[in-house]
Amino acid sequence: MSAPELDSLKSELIDAIERAATLGALEEVRVAALGKKGRVSELMQGLGALPPEERRSYGQAVNSLKESVAAALEARRAVLAREATAEKLALERADVTLPVREGPLAEGRIHPVSQVTDEITEIFADMGFAIAEGPDIETDFNNFTALNIPPEHPARQDHDTFYFAEAPDGSRPVLRTHTSPVQIRTMLREKPPLRIIAPGRVYRCDSDQTHTPMFHQVEGLVIDEETHLGHLKWVLEEFCKAFFEVPEVKMRFRASHFPFTEPSMEVDIGYAKVGEEIRIGEGDRWLEILGCGMVHPNVLKNVGLDPDRYQGFAFGLGIDRIAMLKYGMPDLRAFFAGDLRWLTHYGFPPLAIPTLAGGLS
Ligand code: DAH
Repeated sequence: MSAPELDSLKSELIDAIERAATLGALEEVRVAALGKKGRVSELMQGLGALPPEERRSYGQAVNSLKESVAAALEARRAVLAREATAEKLALERADVTLPVREGPLAEGRIHPVSQVTDEITEIFADMGFAIAEGPDIETDFNNFTALNIPPEHPARQDHDTFYFAEAPDGSRPVLRTHTSPVQIRTMLREKPPLRIIAPGRVYRCDSDQTHTPMFHQVEGLVIDEETHLGHLKWVLEEFCKAFFEVPEVKMRFRASHFPFTEPSMEVDIGYAKVGEEIRIGEGDRWLEILGCGMVHPNVLKNVGLDPDRYQGFAFGLGIDRIAMLKYGMPDLRAFFAGDLRWLTHYGFPPLAIPTLAGGLS
């Protein structure tokens, strides 16, 4: 190759180097020039075949070409690398002034039944009640017999019980029809004084706008030597005021009958309906929310307590019902339909934990 040819190859290669727009493109130019089969490398390999007198000066010319190309490559590489870094930095820049995006923790919702159960628990815990629990599958004894509902008692029919198949020993477990069996479990396990609430699922073979086969109750039980009906009334009134977050609640205690209490009462709560809105503490509508009474002497006897020494009260409250009332949810069946739109609308943010100090709702 003549000297002018070498010059034109040089400017061709330098030109290609300057035009390489990315590090990848530059690498292609490098391989085409200085790679094993590159054009400059081929010139170098050809040197050996030249006569010695030509080899020296021609070798110097090719070498200087190679060095110029290498220097140009390096200079261009540095420029492109700096540009690539600048571009990456610009792309990955974090705008710290942007608002925080809602993560899964903030998007999830707590079901109203769970939230209301926590609200109820918070209020009774503040009054000194402990939390007790029992299983959903109960013995006939705990669910009925010990609660003074003997086998032939008509109350058994009222409960629309889901029975399991009879076991070989003749016993027949049930899906508990109320939370009252937790009273029995508690009194068999612990000695008075007792002060517990027991929230949980209960089951009855019943279904319409205000009844579902599974629903929720919270049981209350106080047993000691001096608790009387006045205490029961006070506890329920204080509970309702705290739960509905109003200074006064209209309550109606109606004489009733339960086998496990004597005397027995049902409690209604007064409300008004203004359009679709429900207002607690005013108006002339009533909704039954709980049953209660003084624990029947037979129940105390059934768990080995002396009714001449011990007494107390019990109550059973429908959680779903008071949730509907407090948060204005019209259809009980929607509670258990698993519709995400309903849950998004009526559910609670997971960090909105109800406390008496911070506000229940
Ligand atoms: N167990 C009753 C029911 O499910 C509710 C109830 C009434 C519970 C009176 C009680 C009570 O503890 O004293 O209908």
